[in-house]
Amino acid sequence: MTQDELKALVGQAATAYVEPGSIIGVGTGSTVNCFIDALAKMPVPIKAAVSSSHASTERMRALGIEVLDANQVESLAVYIDGADEIDHAGHMIKGGGAALTREKIVADIAARFVCIADESKLVTTLGRFPLPIEVIPMAAAQIARRVRALGGEPALRAGVVTDNGGQIIDVRGLAITDPAAMEREINQWPGVVSVGIFARNKADLCLLGTAQGVRTLTF
Ligand code: A5P
Repeated sequence: MTQDELKALVGQAATAYVEPGSIIGVGTGSTVNCFIDALAKMPVPIKAAVSSSHASTERMRALGIEVLDANQVESLAVYIDGADEIDHAGHMIKGGGAALTREKIVADIAARFVCIADESKLVTTLGRFPLPIEVIPMAAAQIARRVRALGGEPALRAGVVTDNGGQIIDVRGLAITDPAAMEREINQWPGVVSVGIFARNKADLCLLGTAQGVRTLTF
C-alpha cells in the first residue's frame, strides 16, 4: 500500500470514534484531509466541528460540515489529528503544517485524542523530525540562541506566517528522551507561543496504518 492509501485507511477508520450528532475537534494535515472526506460521508452526520486551522475549516465547510469557534463549546468528546512522529507512549511531534498551537488548544478541550498516522510516523525516540516551535517574531533570534544552548540547530521556516501571525522555528538534532520535561522547558521561554511536543496533550489512542491493516495502539 502507498503512504496515501494508508492515510485514507486510517482516515476512514477514525470515523468509528465519532459519535453521530456530536461536536468533535478536527486537526490539520494530509491524513486529516482523508478523515474529513470520510466524515462528510458518514450516514448520520456530526452536529459540528471545532477546527485547528483555516485549511481544515475551508475543507469542512466546502463539504457542508458546520465549523464552530473553540469559544462556543464547553467540551469535545474527541479530537482527531495526525502527527509528524509518535512514540510508543503516545507522545508526539506535531506542527509540520504550522498548525501546532491551534491543534494543542483544540486537543486540550477534548476528552480524548485519537491520532491517525501511517506507520512511518512511529518512532522509538522523538526528534528525527525537526521540532517546530511557534514564536512571536520579535523573539525569534533569542529563541534560536536558547535552542542552540540546548544542543539543537534552529532554522526559521521561510515565508511561513501561522494562522496566529507567528513564525515557525524548526529544530534539528534534538533527541527528545524526556518529552514532558522538554515541552515544559521550551514552553516557558518568553516569546514561545507553543512547542510542537505533545506530551501533556498526548494521544490516548493511535490508529496506525500498516501494510497489514489498521493497528490500534492505546496509551
Ligand atoms: C500540522 O501542523 C501537523 O501537526 C500535522 O498534524 C502533521 O504534520 C501531520 O501531517 P500529515 O498528516 O500531512 O503527515
